[in-house]
Amino acid sequence: MKDDHIVPTQNWRISELILERFKAAFQPEPIQLRQFNVIIGRNGSGKSTLLEALQWLDTTIRTDAREASERYRGIHDLMNLRSRTRVPYFELSIKWQSNELSERTIRYRTRVTEEEDLPRITIEELEDLPSRRHYISTTEPGARLISDAGVTILDADRLALATLAKTRFEPRDPILDFLGSFWARAVFLRLSPNRLATGSLATRRSIEPLLDEEGQNLPALLNELSDDERQALVESVREILSGIRGVLVSKAELGRDTRVHYSLLERMPYRGRAGMYQFPIPAWMLSEGTRRLTAILALLVRRPGPSILCIEEIENGLDPWTVRAILRHLQDAADNGTQVLVTTHSPWVLDEVPIESILLVRRLKGDTRYDPLQSIPEMKSFDPRIPPGTRYVQLSE
Ligand SMILES: Nc1ncnc2c1ncn2[C@@H]1O[C@H](COP(=O)(O)OP(=O)(O)OP(=O)(O)O)[C@@H](O)[C@H]1O
Ligand SMILES: [Mg+2]
Repeated sequence: MKDDHIVPTQNWRISELILERFKAAFQPEPIQLRQFNVIIGRNGSGKSTLLEALQWLDTTIRTDAREASERYRGIHDLMNLRSRTRVPYFELSIKWQSNELSERTIRYRTRVTEEEDLPRITIEELEDLPSRRHYISTTEPGARLISDAGVTILDADRLALATLAKTRFEPRDPILDFLGSFWARAVFLRLSPNRLATGSLATRRSIEPLLDEEGQNLPALLNELSDDERQALVESVREILSGIRGVLVSKAELGRDTRVHYSLLERMPYRGRAGMYQFPIPAWMLSEGTRRLTAILALLVRRPGPSILCIEEIENGLDPWTVRAILRHLQDAADNGTQVLVTTHSPWVLDEVPIESILLVRRLKGDTRYDPLQSIPEMKSFDPRIPPGTRYVQLSE
């Protein structure tokens, strides 16, 4: 069942992200984001840091700040180590802008401190910029007020933003509808071929994302697709792998708690009988790249699709033709309202995307910086006929 909130019509996207003291990012300039973004840079420069900042908020909204920090073994190591303050903290700020209503901007800011090894949300603000209306404000450290509802959040590891995103306040407000829908459909992927073949429950729990980070709940996502969406998935997989004819998900035989698995129907020559025949190939027998591309394409055919889709190292395990096809699908998704952020190590990917979509991450004298690739003076000194990927690998550090 598609339990998402109302799908927003005003095409919002994150236009700016400010990271302060979060992991590799000490105090970089505000990062301008587009509808489609490709993030490149050397190992350890700060690419994942950008995605992880958003993912930390996402997990905190779905569960709480302790759980969001668990993958880092607690909040402590997430705070940038440079020039520690008396009370260590990090701060994240996001601006969303509506593509249709260019004047419309909402700004969110939160500061998270570390106290006795635990995360504590001390500041939270949510403001509609043109009207200066404050949806969330901090009344004293740790106490955050949701203005209209008159609710005060005191739980140290819960965001007021989560309450706003999950609660249907009356009367309806398009900004709150948008925020609820944005966080319900945010997806962060670091796909793992093994996890993609593990199987999952037949249906997704409401706090879970459309697809979990490693892709384990792909069968549940496939079960959510309508017949038309499944057909669209088969067609887009078939453009890459011409033998694919269908996608199947097993039934939960022993009740709702059993795992289900998916298979692709593949048309192959069949010995002993004339012509071709279709065989179901279970996930664990599919090639690793097939598992990855099926997962990404399944997300992209779903309606409504992800609000924001972040994928680590997009080219992992994919051949150049598949990468090209997936990038095309991701750009189509961006044209249809999904904000896309992918990281890459492949200069070749840079030649396949608009140069203005490329964000270069560098460490200069230890400081992480995020700059549009085309704004780097050295890039301009090359012959413009040289493809961006080739220029990128020629850059001095
Ligand atoms: N608390 C911290 N304070 C300062 N620097 C940190 C902190 N935590 C991590 N780092 C630095 O940030 C780096 C990790 O950054 P990140 O994971 O964003 O890199 P990346 O660009 O994704 O690299 P890769 O291409 O290898 O995945 C670490 O290698 C480390 O140098
Ligand atoms: Mg990384």
